[in-house]
Amino acid sequence: MNMPPAISFDAVEQVFTGNDGAPIHALSDLSFSVARHEFVSVLGPSGCGKSTLLRLVAGLIAPTGGSVSIFGYPVQEPRDEIGIVFQKPTLLPWYTVINNVTFPMRHKYGRVQAKDTARALQLLDLVGLADFADKRIDELSGGMQQRVGIARALLLDPDILLMDEPFSALDALTRDEMSFELLRIWRDRPKTVLFITHSIPEALLLSDRILVMSERPGSIREEIKVPFERPRTLETLGDPEFTRLANHIRSTLFSKPVAA
Ligand SMILES: Nc1ncnc2c1ncn2[C@@H]1O[C@H](COP(=O)(O)OP(=O)(O)OP(=O)(O)O)[C@@H](O)[C@H]1O
Ligand SMILES: [Mg+2]
Repeated sequence: MNMPPAISFDAVEQVFTGNDGAPIHALSDLSFSVARHEFVSVLGPSGCGKSTLLRLVAGLIAPTGGSVSIFGYPVQEPRDEIGIVFQKPTLLPWYTVINNVTFPMRHKYGRVQAKDTARALQLLDLVGLADFADKRIDELSGGMQQRVGIARALLLDPDILLMDEPFSALDALTRDEMSFELLRIWRDRPKTVLFITHSIPEALLLSDRILVMSERPGSIREEIKVPFERPRTLETLGDPEFTRLANHIRSTLFSKPVAA
């Protein structure tokens, strides 16, 4: 039996109603799927509906048309097997770092076991915050807070990881480091990843496939299969094909669609 895709969008429409009552058409006829354990990035202009797409997978909103499914079942509500790193970290500022990372456990089971705390400390070490476990969130910089959000999303070892520009608040160096770290995590504990970014090199370095979206209302403009062998290294960035694909994607993003 064929396994259904981990994530699938079928002719999804998303229309919001603005404060003034006017409709905002965010997504139009959006169809794509992501196989189990595949790493797919989404690139697209600001406001084209990328965060909306992620919120649909997470079950935080329902589509106004079409359907969104996880392993063949329509998404109806938020589920534990999905880890999310939001564009802005949604942390509890009055909690310590470690209590923020273990929050999903507390929320799900009402308590945190010693092994969960140990795992959380491991994850904090992974994101370079081992020494900050007992600090309060408001004592951390923006980039450090974003890294707490990443550790928290990994705590339940989710099958599906949704990441909304997770590295955008980090400096360039930490960003590269975190990209390779994410590749390592993904290799050691395979997961389906849907990764939103504005960075073309980041998408090329990380993904199996890249979906390039159109301006709002967003739909898929082009799909690119990324050919580089894994594990990817710094050398991958120097591959001439890397530069060629990056230029190609850049021109797709900047060119206006031809009117039908
Ligand atoms: N809850 C909402 N109510 C009304 N309009 C919304 C809502 N959420 C999103 N929108 C609108 O839908 C469109 C897509 O928003 P979305 O946040 O998905 O864009 P994005 O691609 O993530 O942009 P960015 O790259 O800037 O993060 C925007 O025009 C936005 O104003
Ligand atoms: Mg967004």
